[in-house]
Amino acid sequence: MNLFDVYPLWDIEPVKGLDTTLWDKNGEVYTDLYGGHAVISVGHCHPYYVQMLSEQLGKLGFYSNAVQNSLQKELATKLGRVSGYDDYALFLCNSGAEANENALKVASFHTGKAKVLAFRKAFHGRTSGAVAATDNPKIQAPFNATQNIVFAPLNDLEAVDTELSRGGFAAVIIEGIQGVAGIYEPTNEFINGLRTLCDKYGCLLILDEIQSGYGRTGKFFAHQHYGVRADIVTTAKGMANGFPIGGVLISPEIKPGYGMLGTTFGGNHLACTAAIAVLDIIEKENLVENAAKIGEYFKEAFAGDPAVKEYRGKGLMIGLELNEEYVGLRNKLLFEKHFFTGAAGAGVIRLLPSLTISQETAESFVAAWRELTK
Ligand SMILES: Cc1ncc(COP(=O)(O)O)c(C=O)c1O
Repeated sequence: MNLFDVYPLWDIEPVKGLDTTLWDKNGEVYTDLYGGHAVISVGHCHPYYVQMLSEQLGKLGFYSNAVQNSLQKELATKLGRVSGYDDYALFLCNSGAEANENALKVASFHTGKAKVLAFRKAFHGRTSGAVAATDNPKIQAPFNATQNIVFAPLNDLEAVDTELSRGGFAAVIIEGIQGVAGIYEPTNEFINGLRTLCDKYGCLLILDEIQSGYGRTGKFFAHQHYGVRADIVTTAKGMANGFPIGGVLISPEIKPGYGMLGTTFGGNHLACTAAIAVLDIIEKENLVENAAKIGEYFKEAFAGDPAVKEYRGKGLMIGLELNEEYVGLRNKLLFEKHFFTGAAGAGVIRLLPSLTISQETAESFVAAWRELTK
């Protein structure tokens, strides 16, 4: 059987990792500033993470959601404390798309309404509701088409007001910082204005923190830079350092009911253990602070850089929009200097490294960049 061919692949096969270093099958060494698409939050193969997962695997890997699982409660308590959402309830699933799918469903159940407002260039995942709220017709099948999603331009409060005033909206969904689009931030005024409009029109504010959450931007959730509070927050990527998991943080105003949501694998013993290990490491090693500090370093280092048209983002969620003559730099960084980075189209390099990245590694990346662009 062949693989269903949906991914354009680099001809590189990493087989081993440690913190921000990767080794491929030929023994070549790479530095990882991509984190497997913002997933590696505490570094590859962190010894505490490996130990916690190995021990749990030897005890119990999985049982269904029909029995008590105190690991879920431990995770919810820790996540509540670290995130500042300790009065919220946690629903566990398996991916970012699933987290958003469940968030949209909860909002619709709670409000009894069907419509959702999302933003231009948004990416919320590839399941049915999530992909409908994603502003990219190329990845929507006819099956996904729905009249229930309306798009407004990011940072245009008037447009949001006009749409919401038509009525019938269960939720507004917005990324903490738009990632796949190429790193675009909501303004402080806009996101606080959204909160006010959601309250005015009786719909819920869903913050998709799947890419921008878990300390990546220098706060636990990106929207916390603006002092705004969401009704529902979705998380995934960095949550368990690569072990599949998604989480939906749900306001105490929203009441659960048996059967309202459900999943076979969500919240299993291994996923919870991985997520608890990640939170322990983030706290113990002050990784949110490190993300802010190294982010500041990158910002200063790239100020006035001849290759950079615009520097966007916060902390370790960075978009470097390239001047035209430097398009192609990402491949040079990879093949000539052995640095993995992310991208948004050909013109934007995205840096999404592990929050453990050291000053020394950050400096080595800047040095490699300068050599390639001088
Ligand atoms: C903001 C955002 N939401 C949702 C998703 C979907 O997550 P997953 O691929 O785990 O389904 C992504 C993935 O890139 C994302 O960046």
